[in-house]
Amino acid sequence: NNLYKLPWCVRIVQAKKRSQVSSLLVSVPFQHLESCDLLPHARVPEQMQWAETLAHQTVQDECSTPFEVTDRGFHVCLNFDHVTKPILEEITTLQSKYGFKSRLHDYVECVDGHVEPTRTHNIVIEYSSPNIAKPFHAGHLRSTILGNYIANLAEALGHHVVRINYLGDWGTQFGLLGVAFDRYGDMDQLKEDAMQHLFDIYVRINADMRKEEEAGKPSTVHQAGMEFFRQMEEGNENALRLWRMCRDYSIDEFSKMYKRLGVHFDEYHGEAMYNEKAKEVVEEFKSRGLLQYNSQTGVGFIDLGDPDTKKHLHGNILKSDGTTLYLTRDYAAALDRKERYNFDKMYYVVENGQQMHFKQLVYGLRMLGCDWAGVPPTQFHVKFGRIEGMSTRRGQVVFLRSILDEAQARMIDSMKSKETTKLGSPEEMKRVAETLGVSAIIIQDLKQRRLTNYKFNWEKMLQFNGHTGIFLQYTYARLCSLERNAGVILDLQCATDALTEPEAYRLVQVMARFDETLQYSYTALEPSHLVQYLFSLCHLVGSAIEKLHVKGESDDVAKARLLLFYCSRTVLANGLHLLGITPLEKM
Ligand code: ARG
Repeated sequence: NNLYKLPWCVRIVQAKKRSQVSSLLVSVPFQHLESCDLLPHARVPEQMQWAETLAHQTVQDECSTPFEVTDRGFHVCLNFDHVTKPILEEITTLQSKYGFKSRLHDYVECVDGHVEPTRTHNIVIEYSSPNIAKPFHAGHLRSTILGNYIANLAEALGHHVVRINYLGDWGTQFGLLGVAFDRYGDMDQLKEDAMQHLFDIYVRINADMRKEEEAGKPSTVHQAGMEFFRQMEEGNENALRLWRMCRDYSIDEFSKMYKRLGVHFDEYHGEAMYNEKAKEVVEEFKSRGLLQYNSQTGVGFIDLGDPDTKKHLHGNILKSDGTTLYLTRDYAAALDRKERYNFDKMYYVVENGQQMHFKQLVYGLRMLGCDWAGVPPTQFHVKFGRIEGMSTRRGQVVFLRSILDEAQARMIDSMKSKETTKLGSPEEMKRVAETLGVSAIIIQDLKQRRLTNYKFNWEKMLQFNGHTGIFLQYTYARLCSLERNAGVILDLQCATDALTEPEAYRLVQVMARFDETLQYSYTALEPSHLVQYLFSLCHLVGSAIEKLHVKGESDDVAKARLLLFYCSRTVLANGLHLLGITPLEKM
């Protein structure tokens, strides 16, 4: 973890200080904002004016951009000799005035070699959460990738994290699957390929149901499904046995996918866990006089009174046959998690489309006296946009595994077509292609702004150049190869005076922003900040490799440059790991 807190570049900056050519890059994120999308420019000019003046007063010629504004904050390059008491005092005044708090200090402390950890939080992150009786769709994939990143990041920043996968393993759709299994289930096929078989019978039963509906008849399939589910809720052993079997098979398949994606969970929870507790929640609402019934449908609901729109907002919590609903179980799960983990924050990483559901969840919890529900920064629903057009060569995607398989296959094709591959055996090629395919999928996703919808694009995401996971991996492998062939031994204590070129300086400058980038990405829960950062880093590495040769240079130059590249590789590796990507030494 310390690696994240004190990037190597700081040591280089320190070295520069010792050699009297020092400057300090101070990055001031717009920390007082919850989200970068809402930059209130009005408050910023005063800060910036101060910083700009300061930069011009103090900066020496070695810094090409003494002052720079980005959408995330501003960067001031200060000469070490000038980071004096009065300046620190000025910084402190500004801190209290604008509340951008200790970030600036962190950097000053960083230079001395230690950073005070900020207060650590207990964080519960729920992500992935696929449904057992239905296919794993693009929304689940995005939740998986995004949730894993947020969990990794929170952990790296020193927080305590519990990762939960909340399976959709209860509900009427399960009753439907039960009916389907009675009608079309086949044990042999199930054993051979459980996911495929469960999916097939699910499709067949849905088709049956549609046929009945189109014929204008009340659906007997639907009725039977409701009945099956009611039996499950009542604890009927036969119904539950089938349910358990499907659940086990599904978890098995999901686990394989998670392993391929490099994702893990601390807990597998599920809606089924809250069957009993959900009934208690209904009782709780009832005893508070909040439960009402729809006179026509018999459905039990609560009036949540949306404070945003001042309109009525109903939350259905009880079906007419007395069984509970998705929302009811979520109330129970939230209360249970608060009790189990006593979290400071809980995040639900779930697609935009469920916004209304989470609104209902928050308002209902508040009615139950949970003052923590949905209160920033106890950010609750971490929403994200859709992935559009996710299909494979064979057509519409049903299983995640077909996406992973195709990514791997396409990578193998593309590696074979490149003469340059250094990989020997077919097994090695397969392994590398798998990692590259996964990297491509993850980067295509995380480079997007979280809230935007994006189009899944095989060609674009697998390119070696351009903003792809392959490009990041390629840069990493290049750095590894450079180190292998450097001709000098890495010396972490070597002098760095020889690093005088602008390429070296720019690289150091960008590395110095790693910590800040993580903080910022975390505050906004926005992975694209880190991904874009890594793209910039890799572009700079590319130009540095071209200009700053290591092999064949004098010892002090070679060593200093090797250290520089080693530091870049460390920062890149840290970034990749956080994103859920295993860096490849060769490709
Ligand atoms: N299983 C749900 C779905 O696929 C997502 C669950 C989201 N989490 C929650 N606590 N409601 O739609």
